[in-house]
Amino acid sequence: MAKAAELETNPLSEGLHEYRVADPALIVIFGATGDLAQRKLLPAIYNLALQRVLPPGFGVIGAAKSDLSDEQFRKRAADSIRAHSRTQPVNESVLKPLLDGMRFQQLDFGDGAGFQRLDRLLDEVDQERHTGGNRIYYCATPPPTFPLIVANLGAAAMAKPPKGSWRRIVVEKPFGTNLETARALNAEVETVFHEDQVFRIDHYLGKETVQNILAFRFANSIFEPVWNNQYVDAVQITVAEELGVEGRGGYYEGAGALRDVVQNHQLQLLTLVAMEPPVSFDQGSVRDEKVKVLKAVCPLAGEEVDGSAVRGQYGPGWVLGEKVPGYREEKSVDPKSRTETFVALRLQVDNWRWAGVPFFLRAGKRMPKRSTTIRIQFKRPPHLTFGRGAMRDVEPNAITLHIQPEEGISLRFAAKVPAAGIRMRSVNMDFLYASSFLAEAPDAYERLLADCMVGDATLFTRKDEVEVAWQVIDPIEKRWSGVEPQFPNYDAGTWGPPEAEQLIQRDGFEWHRP
Ligand code: BG6
Repeated sequence: MAKAAELETNPLSEGLHEYRVADPALIVIFGATGDLAQRKLLPAIYNLALQRVLPPGFGVIGAAKSDLSDEQFRKRAADSIRAHSRTQPVNESVLKPLLDGMRFQQLDFGDGAGFQRLDRLLDEVDQERHTGGNRIYYCATPPPTFPLIVANLGAAAMAKPPKGSWRRIVVEKPFGTNLETARALNAEVETVFHEDQVFRIDHYLGKETVQNILAFRFANSIFEPVWNNQYVDAVQITVAEELGVEGRGGYYEGAGALRDVVQNHQLQLLTLVAMEPPVSFDQGSVRDEKVKVLKAVCPLAGEEVDGSAVRGQYGPGWVLGEKVPGYREEKSVDPKSRTETFVALRLQVDNWRWAGVPFFLRAGKRMPKRSTTIRIQFKRPPHLTFGRGAMRDVEPNAITLHIQPEEGISLRFAAKVPAAGIRMRSVNMDFLYASSFLAEAPDAYERLLADCMVGDATLFTRKDEVEVAWQVIDPIEKRWSGVEPQFPNYDAGTWGPPEAEQLIQRDGFEWHRP
């Protein structure tokens, strides 16, 4: 992390971490004792408090099945914040008042009377803290509980804001498990909330480097003219994790890589890379353009899936020097599991800008390293001015957007090797966030919570967007469900099954090795 003095003297750090001031409000976290709340949400709320973004009176109400007193909940929250806050050490004079504003209510999500008790508690806290009736309901619970929570909020008349106040709901991913269930959930939500109260979260959109895709494309004039099928040969989007399922086997068994990461995070990255310039950076314009991209993605039909989609599941292996078990040996995983932990896809965005350019997507667990990158590979020069020999070591030009962990952008181009005669070699020109801005980026959840508090849904997924993303995924799931996979088919610590290499090589490309 950069030192304060360095930040002050670095002109690029001006405006960092600027958030709009939100109205006083209460946030109710359903599933407040769960992993997401403890590891991500509470530390994010603390960091917003540290940056003085939280309005006075802001209060957190935890709601979960466990029976905890306010004090016990505060103790857990304090432990989690101390363990997981991105800024360390924790500032006790910020933490203490935040904890004082926390309350807890034991709640069974199917119990209507419990929601009425919660409503009374919220009214009471609202009076104490002068939050004007403003509330955020955050569903940090397993997906099957979403409809229950929504229905009970409706039945207890907790969705409708009293005059002059607002009520919002944040729904975590996965939003449905296919088009049908996503539609049903949207319909359920719509009976209780208006669309502008609904914030469907995909935490990738809160990442600074993901937002920077739009800045890179639309705040500069030099890249956009070549950002199309005249110049681009192929696009690769990789979301590789060295982690396995980390005790989430129960959830992951019903999801798999396609639903867990591709349907949301990876298709979001694709929309940002492929979209047309929006008229402005407001929620309507940005989301309209993203939906148009998803509509242009040709769904793979029937047997086409076999040639354009590869699935894999890891067996035992070595990751970063450590021996790790195979997926089927993980806790809560069926020893004969058919769930994929790796996906590679070849998609086409069938519109004027991208016709003919393959989009290769790859997502996997237990890869050799954690790396999320987007690589735009350009066509070769039309004529070999320096002859084939001089160019033999040269790779095509490429722009790589490094989303994580080494956040930055690099441009690969040919340069003359300094020696007599003419020979070229590929070199990189690099921009690194850490060294240009000398500051650590806020966590995605900080940005998204702050946006939700001011009612800005630009970085959240709209109803139609979620549905059209499932339209891309469903035919693949359908085809796969009818064909028995040969699993496991890659060792932990490798880049997936050999078929993934063949998929990209058929078009004459290679996967980028991060
Ligand atoms: C989550 C998935 O949405 O994203 C996880 O459920 C995955 O399986 C995670 O590990 C990856 O997020 P990040 O921010 O670590 O890249």
